[in-house]
Amino acid sequence: MKWVLLLLVALSLRFRTADSVYDYFRLPTALRPQKYDLRILTRLEDEGNLSFNGTVKIKLEALQNTKNITLHSKDLEIDEAQITLRQVSGEGLKDNCVSSTEVNPNHDFYILHTCQELVAGHAYELELPFSAELQDQLVGYYRSSYVDPVSNETRWITITQFEPAYARMAFPCFDEPGYKAVFDITLGYHNKFTGLSNMPAKATKPHESLPDYVWSEFEESVPMSTYLVAYTVNDFTHKSSTLLTGPLFRTWARPNAIDQCDYAAEFGPKVLKYYEQLFGLKFPLPKVDQIAIPDFNAGAMENWGLVAYSESSLLYSKEYTSQENEKDIASTVAHELAHQWFGNLVTMNWWTDLWLNEGFATYVAGLGVEYIQPDWRFMEQATMSSLLTVFRKDSFNSSHPISRPIEMVSEISESFDEISYEKGSSVIRMMHLFLGEESFRSGLKSYLEKYAYKNAEQDNLWESLTLAAHKAGSLPKNYDLKTIMDSWTLQTGYPMVNVTRNYTARTAKLSQERYHLNTDISREHRRECWWVPLSYTSQEKKDFNNTAPKAWLECDKNGDSLPKTISDLPGPDQWVIFNNQLSSPYKVNYDARNWKLLIDTLNSEEYQTIDVVNRAQLIDDVLYFAWTGEQDYEIALGVINYLQRERELLPWKSAFNSLMTVSDFFRKLPNYMYFKSYMKKLITPIYEHLNGINDTYSTIQQKDKVTLKGMVASWACSYQVSDCVDQALSYFRSWRAEANPDENNPVPLGVRGNVYCTSIEHGSDEDWEFLWTRYEMANVASEKETILNALACSKEVWLVQRYLERIFVPNGEIRKQDSVSVFQSIAANDVGFLLAKKYLMDNVDSISKFFHPQFEAMSDIMKPLSEQIFSRKDYNEFKTFISNSKEQLKDLDQAIDQTLEQILTNVQWKERNYHQFTRAIQRFLVSK
Ligand code: BES
Ligand code: ZN
Repeated sequence: MKWVLLLLVALSLRFRTADSVYDYFRLPTALRPQKYDLRILTRLEDEGNLSFNGTVKIKLEALQNTKNITLHSKDLEIDEAQITLRQVSGEGLKDNCVSSTEVNPNHDFYILHTCQELVAGHAYELELPFSAELQDQLVGYYRSSYVDPVSNETRWITITQFEPAYARMAFPCFDEPGYKAVFDITLGYHNKFTGLSNMPAKATKPHESLPDYVWSEFEESVPMSTYLVAYTVNDFTHKSSTLLTGPLFRTWARPNAIDQCDYAAEFGPKVLKYYEQLFGLKFPLPKVDQIAIPDFNAGAMENWGLVAYSESSLLYSKEYTSQENEKDIASTVAHELAHQWFGNLVTMNWWTDLWLNEGFATYVAGLGVEYIQPDWRFMEQATMSSLLTVFRKDSFNSSHPISRPIEMVSEISESFDEISYEKGSSVIRMMHLFLGEESFRSGLKSYLEKYAYKNAEQDNLWESLTLAAHKAGSLPKNYDLKTIMDSWTLQTGYPMVNVTRNYTARTAKLSQERYHLNTDISREHRRECWWVPLSYTSQEKKDFNNTAPKAWLECDKNGDSLPKTISDLPGPDQWVIFNNQLSSPYKVNYDARNWKLLIDTLNSEEYQTIDVVNRAQLIDDVLYFAWTGEQDYEIALGVINYLQRERELLPWKSAFNSLMTVSDFFRKLPNYMYFKSYMKKLITPIYEHLNGINDTYSTIQQKDKVTLKGMVASWACSYQVSDCVDQALSYFRSWRAEANPDENNPVPLGVRGNVYCTSIEHGSDEDWEFLWTRYEMANVASEKETILNALACSKEVWLVQRYLERIFVPNGEIRKQDSVSVFQSIAANDVGFLLAKKYLMDNVDSISKFFHPQFEAMSDIMKPLSEQIFSRKDYNEFKTFISNSKEQLKDLDQAIDQTLEQILTNVQWKERNYHQFTRAIQRFLVSK
């Protein structure tokens, strides 16, 4: 069918012009842009007609002879009559022109047919005028607004968001990351505004005809990809950073939020400086601006020299920013600044290797935050979050490899997912740990130097690192990184390593297979092979800090796993643990006896002799194995029973993460009462140890205890542990009693989200209205977000329904950037779930139009629904809904497969494990 269509399109194009049989989604390769001269005039005066227009002059080098110029343009008006084309170098300097143009909307192509053939080796200059309306779709060159508190008037600003493929909505260009060019940008705007772009401004002149308008010209950029180009016209103010070394560093926000800029203004340059040391390469631009945009879809975007953020990802307020928000701000800034090297200086050739950008930025951000705030124990938390995410997402058959072929533009957006970010960063960490510091750093440095201002693919990275590792002796000479790492980046999934000990011979046999959550997948589909670095320790050695591999699981030429036996293990009364500190993303299953030894230690005073990261690993592994039947729930509950003693963050994080998946549907099942009692039994000791939700923050020394307290409080209130609900309600009551609640908030910062949610869940209509008013009045974006999510906790059907109907309203009270998260919060609530499901099914058409062209949002709103469906009947209903909504859910193939597989695994769990699990809980309820 696809082929027939392709042929039809090809034929129809042939019919129009003989040249255009080209119907491939990648640009033809006959031409290379070298330089763009971009002039853009932004009109923000007339609220009814916010628009921009401009011209782009592109200097092109012909690599092959060609009679057409194919570039990207989407939703732009182009006045064909004003297009010019001339030859600027090469012999002859013949006249040239554009004879006709056509568009190929499937690929956003704008195709210009030239009067004369362009000749290989010559250079040309193409000039195109363009214009468009400034819309609020959060991509391309778009408008954003805020209300000025003094005049109560709406103020308009503009910003770009080009990644991955939206530069084409702002100006005609060769919009692929491999086409690096230099950019000479000039912005025209009313002189009451400021214009910013990637480079510093070099001159400002009055506009030739428009009164009070200026042209601001920026310095020429370094060679860069189109998706990193950025500009903004705004009336913001800024804070300059005080760090004296390094480039000029400014942080911008709307005037009423300027005092929320200090934090990022100080953190940014520190982390930039750390990267200069880490990579051994100076930041190449003369300045960095970071700017907080009121309407911004992503958390942040790494535009070279002009990094854009949503307000909640950049702005910090002492009174309103919780420690969790503070960590998010620091890690977001660290992430975007890491991209200045990984992504901006060296860019992936094509989106297939997006993980080189996102995986690195995610990993390196962890190093950056850890360096600047060592007391946060950030790296271990980031590592754990990443691994927990990988173990979940990549356990689905419908997952995909880190490095994935991209054959359609829609697949580019799909790639910004947990696999690129979290699995990407996990395999980089694995490499860092098995190569050691020196090889890792020197390999990266030579890679960055070699490909600076150019493009690279993963093989280039393997090569630089292998060279460095062989030189330093940190990798056996007969191993190369390509063989090892291809098994991690080109294959979907991760291995489960089975360890079967021979207790008398003191050996262990190791084997591997892919771990699948979906039990319908046959053994045949599990026989993949990974190169697995094996570190391990035992009850007597306990050298958990040694993450260097003692051995490897290897694969033969056919991709089969080679058998492996480990010897010199301890005696029969001692446990062993593999994968010290979870240095690689794999699961480990042991024989029953080893599990039993582990359970004994965990449930004793000695439990802390097992490293905290490995305690978290044991919990995650055993709960997964119980889910899919590799272990039974007796063993799994035997492991997590020790949590009654546990006082550290990571094991709790791991446990909550897994128990959440069961809790999501157990809440709706008749045996819930047992689960609830069981959860109470587990949580009560830690809740009391942390002093509940009382404001004890000034006495907590360790930062990660604050995180733990917040996490425990939210579970405690939803399982009605101890005084949690009463305390939450009483905090909320004292807030309501404040004469000026927008100035004074007695609710402790660390538990605000939880207190608000619990109070709305148990509260009155007036409580809802009170909180909604606080949303309207708040001047700190993260506080607004916290409130929006808490408002979804109501159990009052009409309130929830009314709230649902406020979400997808163009120019409504809820910003488009927040709509996905509000819908998700409603769907995660038991009452909201049914309403949200129905609302989506009834309104799928208008919702998908609301998000256009960002269709990915549709997959995000299906996700929380799929996590709570667990019966075959509801599975079939959802499947029917999806097949009836083909048009609205277009280009979401991957997300749909994942959604359906998620539901299927829930159904499997219910059918296989519900009764076994209930019986196991009942036994644990009466024991110890
Ligand atoms: N390069 C991305 C921004 C992006 C995301 C562009 C998705 C296009 C599609 C940026 O570096 C990023 O990763 N932002 C994250 C936040 C970060 C701290 C993980 C985001 O926006 O969620
Ligand atoms: Zn990123």
